[in-house]
Amino acid sequence: MVHITFRQLQVFETVARHLSVTRAAEELHLTQPAVSMQIKQFESAIGLPLFEQVGRRKFLTHAGHTMRHYSRLMTQQLMEAVEALEELKGIEGGHFKVSVASTVNYYATRILANFCREYPTVRINLDVTNREELLRQLELNETDIVLMGQPPESLDVVAEPFKDNPLVIIAPPGHRLARRRKTVSLAELEGETFITREEGSGTRLAMERSFEDYGISLSSKIELNSNEAIKQSVEAGLGLGFVSAHTLELELELGRLKVLKVEGFPIVRRWYIVHRCGKRLSVAAREFKACVLKGSGGSR
Ligand code: PGA
Repeated sequence: MVHITFRQLQVFETVARHLSVTRAAEELHLTQPAVSMQIKQFESAIGLPLFEQVGRRKFLTHAGHTMRHYSRLMTQQLMEAVEALEELKGIEGGHFKVSVASTVNYYATRILANFCREYPTVRINLDVTNREELLRQLELNETDIVLMGQPPESLDVVAEPFKDNPLVIIAPPGHRLARRRKTVSLAELEGETFITREEGSGTRLAMERSFEDYGISLSSKIELNSNEAIKQSVEAGLGLGFVSAHTLELELELGRLKVLKVEGFPIVRRWYIVHRCGKRLSVAAREFKACVLKGSGGSR
């Protein structure tokens, strides 16, 4: 009987996915020698090499490809076992992981707060990240439920819309366009500097697509990976911002930012609750999904 551990399978799967020990070590929070050692022990338990180094690149051997096929099946089965056991615990003893686009988080935290008040014993892992990372987690089945903008077309997912997401352009109150009574035309935006979200953000993608549709090119000098940082930079006069109206409540109330009246705006997109087809959601996760679809996060 070959003696292999689940940890070795997990390390192998990560190295096989990245084809890099360095990147696998980063993801697993291990040192590179620790990862190399696990792979070596795994290979010696199996009695065949799983990777080969050609020039500077790493490849899976034939045995590596075969092992990867089975390691995926085993990981899947283990997850299903965990999910089946979760089912036995019912809502109160339940647990689920929800991953949320950073922009959606402004709204999602209200739903979570209501949910936690109702079911205080449910354990929830919340991951707040950008669209690119959400797609990765969905693809690798690393999360139960995702709240995001445009759902992926390349994956088999169940996606249901739960909230409109109006996208607006913001400026500091003293900006010449903020003092304007008349609607600002799209052409007038051409010379403005925009502060944008990072590549991989859903908001950034929506901004690029809509400006392309409107046929305007923008100069963006500053790129930031958080909505809060964008609002602060706009407030400080570094440029105009393109954000979801859901992120703005406080700044508008305090008069720190203005939403510009621009032709064709707001651009209204939608947020979706998404999970993989065939995903066995725990009772608690199903109840959370129902709360999201009911809109139990308040009326904004
Ligand atoms: P973001 O996502 O936080 O990645 O911009 C928002 C969205 O997908 O609508």
